[in-house]
Amino acid sequence: MKQPSHKLLTAFGLAAAFALGGPAVVQAQDASPVVEYRKSLMQAFRTHMGGVRAATGEAAPIGHAEHHAVAFERMSQALANAFPAGSAGPGSRALPAIWDNRDDFMDKVSLIQQASARLVTATRSGDAEAIGTALQAVQGTCGSCHQPYRGPAN
Ligand code: HEC
Repeated sequence: MKQPSHKLLTAFGLAAAFALGGPAVVQAQDASPVVEYRKSLMQAFRTHMGGVRAATGEAAPIGHAEHHAVAFERMSQALANAFPAGSAGPGSRALPAIWDNRDDFMDKVSLIQQASARLVTATRSGDAEAIGTALQAVQGTCGSCHQPYRGPAN
């Protein structure tokens, strides 16, 4: 029986990679490095929140949930300086209200920092219920900032 040629499969793979990679490449060119950076913080929030959840209980060795919580907490510290004045722009969903209502925005930053510090404490206890409660509190802080300060997806 004739096997599909290797070359053909490679060409198909490349075409698929271009098709999938195209929009992301365009976006990377449009957004400023500052915007790219803060998006990476946001992605890390998502990753490490999921990491805490996944590592709680029997699934991962003791201490792994704490690793994710600590990483999350550090990202929340970094957030304070990720929105310099004038850093809205192409590829960004940051709303002008961030800079118009700076004090309130920084309060939201404090809220996620406090909630993530409590998450670290909860993971150290190893108590799944306490971790669940702390995770919920952290998650609440995402929406409370996105609602007033993040515009709709393009
Ligand atoms: C203090 C405000 C604030 C908090 C807290 C916050 N975010 Fe965001 N988030 C934003 C803003 C503003 C944007 C849009 C940034 C931009 O496009 O320049 C954003 C964008 C995002 C994005 C899209 C990133 C991308 O690649 O375009 C994700 C995902 C996200 N946030 C997840 C989270 C999660 C999960 C949490 C909570 C654990 C969280 N955020 C907490 C303000 C916040």
